Amino acid sequence: MTSSECYIFSRLPDDRPKLVGRYRYVRPPGARAFGEFGYAGSWLRHPNAFPLDPTNLPLSRETFTTVKRGCLFGPLADATPDLWGRELVARLEPGKLFSPVDWLYAAGRDRVGCLAFGPEPELASAAPGPERLHLRSLDTIAHEFAKLEAGLPANPHATRIYTAGVSMGGARPKAVIEANDRLWIAKFERTTDTFNQCGAEHATMRLAAKCGLDVAETRLVDVGSRKAILVKRFDRSEGPDYSPTVHYLSALSLINADETSADGSYFAIASELLRHAIRPDKARKELFGRMVFNVLCGNRDDHLKNHALTYGTEGWDISPAFDVLPQPDMLPEQAIAVGRSGVYPSIGNCLSRCGDFGLNLEEAQAEINRIATIATTWRDVFDQEGIAVPTIERVAPAFAIADSYRS
Ligand SMILES: Nc1ncnc2c1ncn2[C@@H]1O[C@H](COP(=O)(O)OP(=O)(O)OP(=O)(O)O)[C@@H](O)[C@H]1O
Ligand SMILES: [Mg+2]
Repeated sequence: MTSSECYIFSRLPDDRPKLVGRYRYVRPPGARAFGEFGYAGSWLRHPNAFPLDPTNLPLSRETFTTVKRGCLFGPLADATPDLWGRELVARLEPGKLFSPVDWLYAAGRDRVGCLAFGPEPELASAAPGPERLHLRSLDTIAHEFAKLEAGLPANPHATRIYTAGVSMGGARPKAVIEANDRLWIAKFERTTDTFNQCGAEHATMRLAAKCGLDVAETRLVDVGSRKAILVKRFDRSEGPDYSPTVHYLSALSLINADETSADGSYFAIASELLRHAIRPDKARKELFGRMVFNVLCGNRDDHLKNHALTYGTEGWDISPAFDVLPQPDMLPEQAIAVGRSGVYPSIGNCLSRCGDFGLNLEEAQAEINRIATIATTWRDVFDQEGIAVPTIERVAPAFAIADSYRS
């Protein structure tokens, strides 16, 4: 039997790395490989210890096993690179076969949330790490990423740029940069984009904020003749330390599903919020609002990795919203179920299980009317944010349900 292992540390609750537990990747001869995790006794005894996943990894002496998410437990998989990051890693170390433990190390210090990983039960004092990329590097980063997307060979002088892109999840080209004493995720246009997606994301996030939803702060910036969106990280403090402020857990992890699962629903997330959130009624109402907004603006890519919980000083909460944008080219169905008719995007379907969000019909309808009235102003918001008419016209079909509320 072969295995590889690593130790897991958390920078919370007091910003000093504490040993949380041990992860092992086990390959029994002739049998299926699996991942194994157990909490350290010292973590279980810590008065402010928290579970990495309150549903699937509760604080206990149990040894947990999994074969899902590449044999990584949800909160660990969340902290590894995703499609874009894995593509960059493959460029940095061509031909290398990555084990789950390698993936845990791959994202580096800027990985989402507050976890850290090391080969020994004591976390060696962290090397200072490479200097972070700044706003002024955006042009160079975009240029290098575009070359990779065009299939050109890796540039040996761009290693630092590739490394900055590896930390976060998601499929779109992105890199963590610093600006104004904060860390931001810079998301770039893809060479295959047929409209200003970065602009559409920024304007839609502004619209969501106008609807009273709790969304990550964004900025739209010029990168040569193209655009990039900067999304302020909600899991890091100000510089120069950029310390982790919360533990991060995607809805995919909480529901213990695989990426390929079709089982996701807003009401399943709501029931987890009811069990764990520090203010369950507020969190469930916020989730209901996001679901309605996604239906109104045609954000069909609202999959389980685009929703998350955070654990901070107060406890579990729904994270600020991110990755919200109209998808005029996707099938008119949501990625996860919104009501009794599954993924069918209609306000009636959203209403059908409003009780799961702690709302009676009257309250749910009032919330819908409030959000829809603001969502009808989407063209004005896009215009104010400097989005050109061709992009507005291109995304308009996605806003059909919002437009149906115009009097
Ligand atoms: N403001 C933020 N603060 C901290 N982490 C974030 C923030 N926004 C996004 N993330 C993390 O980064 C990941 C990637 O971001 P995002 O979903 O915006 O990228 P994407 O490439 O558009 O994703 P997708 O593949 O869903 O299209 C998220 O899944 C989440 O883990
Ligand atoms: Mg995403």
